Amino acid sequence: MHPIERQLYLDHLHITQVLRCFERALEGYRNQPDGGGHLALILDVLDYIEVYPQRWHHPVEDRIYTLLLRRVPTLSALGLSLIAEHKRLEQLTNELNHLFSAIANDSMVPMSHLMRISGEFLEEQLAHLERENRQLFPLLARTLGDPDWQQLERECGLLQDPLFGDRLRQDYENLHASILTLDRNLSLTG
Ligand SMILES: [Fe+2]
Ligand SMILES: [Fe+2]
Repeated sequence: MHPIERQLYLDHLHITQVLRCFERALEGYRNQPDGGGHLALILDVLDYIEVYPQRWHHPVEDRIYTLLLRRVPTLSALGLSLIAEHKRLEQLTNELNHLFSAIANDSMVPMSHLMRISGEFLEEQLAHLERENRQLFPLLARTLGDPDWQQLERECGLLQDPLFGDRLRQDYENLHASILTLDRNLSLTG
């Protein structure tokens, strides 16, 4: 498996962990808006989504889906809708980041609005990953060859993940620790 393909699979696992952490932090924020560090964690998650998945993972997938839909015409509708979902997810992340940043700057945002957009964000992010995992990723190995991966590597390179890569970015230390704690608790209760 080419390192880019491996990284895409790994990213899905990591994005799922990050979304699970977001869900917990959101629950905490709803119960305790003024304390517990939930707001800071939510802002870290939204920042990370904009810094890594949206800057590397989505652009690489966009190139792959464009290639696939040219090569396998029956995949056109699926490829185009996944590319469109990236745009929609990026808009949602951006909107949510604005809302939570406004709260961090002491602006009033109705809780019901915040919860509605956050719910859409979570639901659509998870549904997108699930759709790619089930419908498209299994086709990668069958449809793309070494020259395709080499071409992708030349075009996109490999970007270091600042949260799960070899070097943890300092301002994600808190988020990283929260994800590890959550995973430990889930494996104890699971
Ligand atoms: Fe995607
Ligand atoms: Fe993906």
